[in-house]
Amino acid sequence: MKKKFYIASGLLSILLMGCNNPDNSTPIPESKEVTQKVVSHNVVQNSVVQDMVETPKKTVSKVKYIDKPIVTEEGMLYIKGFMGSIKPTLNSALKQDGNHVTAMSTCSSMATQMTNEYNNITNGVKIRRTALKYRNPKNKPDETDKEVMYRFQAVNDFKPVAVDMGNTYRVYKPLKTKASCLYCHGSKSDINPKIAKMIQKKYPHDLATDFKLGELRGVVVAEFKK
Ligand code: HEC
Repeated sequence: MKKKFYIASGLLSILLMGCNNPDNSTPIPESKEVTQKVVSHNVVQNSVVQDMVETPKKTVSKVKYIDKPIVTEEGMLYIKGFMGSIKPTLNSALKQDGNHVTAMSTCSSMATQMTNEYNNITNGVKIRRTALKYRNPKNKPDETDKEVMYRFQAVNDFKPVAVDMGNTYRVYKPLKTKASCLYCHGSKSDINPKIAKMIQKKYPHDLATDFKLGELRGVVVAEFKK
């Protein structure tokens, strides 16, 4: 029972989080308005400090966090819908072979296509995954992504957050490193040599190893029109 769950959650992670890479994920440029506005509770705190020590204004966070549950809920709905849409494929891949080596190869081909398909049918919504230490260069974070992830790390909180990007909203769902993730994102010395070889071949500039249990692995981002 336990083992079954393990395999299932391992594979789930691969396809849900570990495998899709939207080709059409060109980030929407940050609006100027966003960079000029001073928002979010963090920033308010910072600016009090700034007034006291006269720190230059440019250290103020550019990310405009918003506290609107309805926006966060909409984003989470897209993220969950996306994950649900790729679950069946994932399960059949699991049935073929419960091992992660197979999963690795299924990864890039199938999940990319599915992410693109999902993004095509959901008008005005774009789903992607990113991380500070990323495996696929196509998943490289932009400046807003980075700031949000630094914040997740700093507060060590895994609740989703919403960001105002001007014409769009972004909802970020943080992903914790689970035991099942370590098969492919754990310490280099622990990763199965077969998997390590495949990673090395397909992602020669891989940064996504040496994660520890419970750490932030990355985020799923839903971006949608206001
Ligand atoms: C079977 C190996 C495997 C497992 C297990 C796995 N991943 Fe990955 N992961 C990958 C591969 C391969 C990529 C690159 C996929 C691509 O080309 O977009 C990746 C990419 C990612 C990305 C996108 C950012 C990046 O690094 O390119 C995130 C986020 C991610 N994985 C999170 C997780 C989480 C969280 C878990 C555990 C719940 C997990 N992965 C388990 C293989 C795996």
